Amino acid sequence: GKVAVLMGGRSAEREVSLMSGTGVLAALQSKGVDAHAFDPAERDLGDLKREGFARCFIALHGRFGEDGTVQGALELLGIPYTGPGVMASAVAMDKLMTKRIWIAEGLSTPAWRQVHSAEETRAAFAALGSHMIVKPVREGSTIGLSKVLTLAECDAAYALASGQDPMVMCEQFIAGDEVTIPVLGTGAEARALPVIRIVAPDGNYDYQHKYFTDDTKYLVPCGLPEGEEAAIQALVLKAFRTLDCRGWARADVMIDGRTRKPYLLEINTSPGMTGHSLVPMSARATGLSYEDLCLTLLASAAL
Ligand code: DAL
Ligand code: MG
Repeated sequence: GKVAVLMGGRSAEREVSLMSGTGVLAALQSKGVDAHAFDPAERDLGDLKREGFARCFIALHGRFGEDGTVQGALELLGIPYTGPGVMASAVAMDKLMTKRIWIAEGLSTPAWRQVHSAEETRAAFAALGSHMIVKPVREGSTIGLSKVLTLAECDAAYALASGQDPMVMCEQFIAGDEVTIPVLGTGAEARALPVIRIVAPDGNYDYQHKYFTDDTKYLVPCGLPEGEEAAIQALVLKAFRTLDCRGWARADVMIDGRTRKPYLLEINTSPGMTGHSLVPMSARATGLSYEDLCLTLLASAAL
């Protein structure tokens, strides 16, 4: 039957979603799938049912797309969709809820504080050891994120983050290796793909470096000792299962350069599928092409 590739949407990551969706749409069509673009920002989701769509590939990022809302609407419409369900999507969109659950399950994540003002941000700076990340709780693609190294930077960082989301968090900065790890599959079949190590030119893997420049290095194989890579894959698989994710996701992790301990930052339940994105890169390292990855994901669509 007909497949809708949901792309665009109304989050700050709309532009990224359009890039992801365009890639997915072309890949599915190249494999003979009757796939059509569908932008929930411009259309009524009820049209999916009226127009006879059998399945949805969710290529939306951020709020109103990756956060359980669209997933809930598709549940009500009875149309199977790719990626995690309502609860996992909603929890994973909220980086604080995610951390609370991971901590309760004994999984490591950097220390954090939720803050409600510039003043609280300055207090967090002292409490978290004077190296911190300030970010919106429910955003992606590093939008609204600052790395804060001095007390003087706290006010601007809070203003930037709170401009994106009234919920703002400060997180201890872990200096070391930045890695990302996709998980594919559901339940007992879920498996972590190869770890990708990200080396941004100035250590800032930001929006520009994520999508528009070619000076970030992505290492896969990641070059970490084999035992270390396996331990990180096991950690990420636990993180995925603990939130009851299904289909796919991609976890972002920092490895402390001194202790080599890995810390979970977050898990993305609708990872980027742009030409610069990392799930396709890791999948390719296992012999799975972008097109076949899209088909595999589509086949996993569920209610
Ligand atoms: N939030 C972006 C799309 C990602 O994690 O890939
Ligand atoms: Mg993210």
